[in-house]
Amino acid sequence: MAQAKGLGLVAVGVDINEMPLDDRCRIQQVLGAAKPAFVMHCGAITNVDGCEAEPLLAYRINGLATAWIAEAAASVNAGMAYVSTDFVFDGTPYGTPYPVDAAIKPLSVYGASKRLGEEAVLGHGRDDFYVVRTSWVFGPGGENFPRAILNRARSGKPLKVVTDQVGRPTMTHDLAEALLDIRRLKPAGGIYHAANEGQCSWHKFAVDTLAAAGINDIEVGEQTAADLNLPAARPAWSVLDTSKLATVRGKHLPNYRDALQRHVPLDEAALAELASGEAGGEARAADKPGGPLRGKQY
Ligand SMILES: NC(=O)c1ccc[n+]([C@@H]2O[C@H](COP(=O)([O-])OP(=O)(O)OC[C@H]3O[C@@H](n4cnc5c(N)ncnc54)[C@H](OP(=O)(O)O)[C@@H]3O)[C@@H](O)[C@H]2O)c1
Repeated sequence: MAQAKGLGLVAVGVDINEMPLDDRCRIQQVLGAAKPAFVMHCGAITNVDGCEAEPLLAYRINGLATAWIAEAAASVNAGMAYVSTDFVFDGTPYGTPYPVDAAIKPLSVYGASKRLGEEAVLGHGRDDFYVVRTSWVFGPGGENFPRAILNRARSGKPLKVVTDQVGRPTMTHDLAEALLDIRRLKPAGGIYHAANEGQCSWHKFAVDTLAAAGINDIEVGEQTAADLNLPAARPAWSVLDTSKLATVRGKHLPNYRDALQRHVPLDEAALAELASGEAGGEARAADKPGGPLRGKQY
């Protein structure tokens, strides 16, 4: 929203209070009243393990509601970008980045529900409808993996991070710029991959996070995904091939380590701001309707 406004665009943001995704009529009303030129659809149930226990909710919010948003966007002749995920892949072609047309094989309910959303968007066949897959998203202000690592390191607790999953961390600011470029440049409709350059395991991402924060004396222990025994399977390899988008934009997203350097101080500032307005923040949080599977998971 900040970056859209920074470009001088009139941008309207809605969250669950204004447009609950389980309410088709509200979606039609909100988009019908705002008559946007373009819709950026980022809302989702992102609790990957929780989705395994609540598949109907995951399919409803991530799949069906995306169909409703696409339907409502088309009815006001708005373009649309749907933020999707590397979890639509199973990770088998280890070592080869996934092109946009790679075979889909989600390992989890979350991945399958996001694929359902993709199909709903692509099914319109519109030249201004985009599925933008991204991966391992982090950014200042929200809950994020680098902050979780830094908090744990600073608390003196031991760190153990997964070594056998490899992907492309992506900073929200860089992803937002890419999404806004798609809106501006209007490439052919379809699937694009947007992720920071570089690739790493979660373990390497943690090590790089500590380095970006100037912490060099803490050891990061190693563990495998199997050690965690989480309900949802995740792809061991999910490096997205971003060349299609880079051709459109004339540039790649920056390297994730460059992004980490920008993220760490911005996140500290965002946290300080949150702490100073904590009472207001709590009140706003209390205003939000509750529900299962709210909140982010890595
Ligand atoms: N994080 C990643 O690594 C990653 C990777 C690939 C793709 N993605 C995709 O990127 C998008 C943003 O994800 P994120 O990581 O920023 O997760 P997030 O923080 O959980 O954001 C999801 C948003 O959807 C909202 N939401 C959830 N249920 C809703 C409902 N029933 N009605 C209306 N809004 C609802 C949430 O509201 P509240 O904040 O009020 O709960 C939140 O604002 C998602 O589409 C996700 O699938 C994320």
